[in-house]
Parts: sequence; structure tokens; C-alpha cells
Amino acid sequence: MTPETMTKAAVLILLGPPGAGKGTQARMLEERYGLVQLSTGDLLRAAVAAGTDAGRAAKSVMEAGGLVSDEIVLAILKDRMAEPDTAKGVILDGFPRTPGQAEALDALLAEQGLKISAAVSMEVDDAAMVTRVSGRYTCADCGEGYHDSFKQPAVDGCCDKCGGKAFKRRADDNAETVGARLTAYHASTAPLIAYYGQRGVLRKVDGMGAIDSIAADLGRIVDEVTA
Ligand code: AP5
Repeated sequence: MTPETMTKAAVLILLGPPGAGKGTQARMLEERYGLVQLSTGDLLRAAVAAGTDAGRAAKSVMEAGGLVSDEIVLAILKDRMAEPDTAKGVILDGFPRTPGQAEALDALLAEQGLKISAAVSMEVDDAAMVTRVSGRYTCADCGEGYHDSFKQPAVDGCCDKCGGKAFKRRADDNAETVGARLTAYHASTAPLIAYYGQRGVLRKVDGMGAIDSIAADLGRIVDEVTA
């Protein structure tokens, strides 16, 4: 399947704890299928950087590893979903994260005549997530993700994707905050696995394999649900 032969607008949800690889895989799917990655984490970080009301309210919650209120997240997500580039389909990375967000997404999609193509649970071991998240860094120019041990640029200090030379690390990527984020995931987000199971759209992938092999598994799912 290519962007040209895809017949349906895809709405793909990636579910998984911090470090599961949602962002890594969403960016790969975006490139391969022309879908748009919608990361509520990225949208919230942009709001924090811009100093908007929503960003000011979200900042301390994110730094502590908690969940930002449904009201703020939904407002940001709805604005982004209204932009025309989402027409081909979206990969929801880090959204929904609570039952309230999942219900609001159902309503939003129904308004637009869309439905969820698949909700993919990325199955990983919590213990490995601390190592993944604390070694993560991204290109400051294009956002491409890297890892101290698992994914380094081909040329040291130079982004593979855009050639940028500046890299950054997230303020919440430390062992203590990752612990709080994992707790929030299991309390509020993991129940969505059953929610989507009951709706018949749940898929599972083994998120502990190599990045390319997980991408192949996800590609097969996208091919199937957009055929
Ligand atoms: P968000 O930005 O969504 O962070 P997260 O869910 O904690 O997820 P991460 O970005 O940490 O991990 P990822 O799964 O994308 O992993 P990645 O691909 O980077 O949210 C941040 C905060 O914003 C939340 O804590 C909350 O406060 C708030 N927020 C966001 N959305 C919200 C919502 N809907 N409601 C309320 N609050 C919300 O991979 C990690 C590292 O591992 C990378 O270095 C990567 O290179 C490496 N890696 C990836 N895959 C593999 C692999 N298979 N093998 C080895 N290494 C790998």
C-alpha cells in the first residue's frame, strides 16, 4: 500500500507507556503513508513554549509526570484535527489517554464521518522504558528522535533527516518523572486497551523488538485497515 493506493482515511491510535516507541513509529508511518502524526505531547510542549494559557496550565503537570486535564488536551487536539492536512488520515500518538478522552474522540470522529481504523497497543516491559526514555534525544530542527544506545545518527552530531547539528533532551525524561508517567499510564490509559478490544479495533504489536521489525508489523496493520 502506498499513499496513492490507500482508499480510506486512516485513524490509527498508538497506545503504550512512555518509551514504547509511539513517536518513533508514528514518524515512520507518517513518511511511508502520508498520514499526519498528531502527538498531544508535542502539541502541549509547543503550547508551553509559546506561553499560551493552556501551556501555562500544562507545564507543571507535565514536569511532574501527571496527565494534563482532558479539557485542555481536547481543545488542543480538536484545533489540530480541524486543519486540512489531516484529511488523508492521522496517527494519534499519546491520545487518547483517559476514558473521557476516548469517548470525546468517538464523538469527534462521528461528527466528521470517520471511525477508528485500529488502536494498536505497543506491548513493552516497564523496566526497559526507563532506559529508553532517559537515553532519548531529538534533533532541535526537525524533531527526529535518537537514542544514546539504540538509534544514533549515521554521522556523529548530524541529523540523518535534515542535517541539523543541534539536539535537545526533554525536561521530563529523567528516571523519577518516568516512574510517575508509568504510574499515570497504568492507572488511566491502560484501561483503554480493553475499551478498544470491546469495539473490535484493538491490535497488539510486540514493542520490544527492533525498530524496523515493529515498523513492518505496523505497516501490515495499516495496509489491512486502509485497503
Ligand atoms: P508524550 O510526549 O506523549 O510522552 P509519552 O507518552 O510519555 O511518550 P514518550 O514520548 O516518552 O515515548 P514514545 O512512546 O513516543 O517513545 P519514543 O518513540 O520517543 O507526553 C508527555 C506528557 O504530556 C505526559 O506525561 C502528559 O503530562 C502530557 N500529555 C501528553 N498527551 C496527553 C494526553 N492525551 N492527556 C493528558 N496529558 C497528556 O522512544 C523512546 C526512545 O526509545 C527513543 O530514544 C527511541 O529512539 C528509542 N526506541 C524506540 N523504539 C525502540 C525500540 N524498538 N528499541 C530500542 N529503542 C527504541
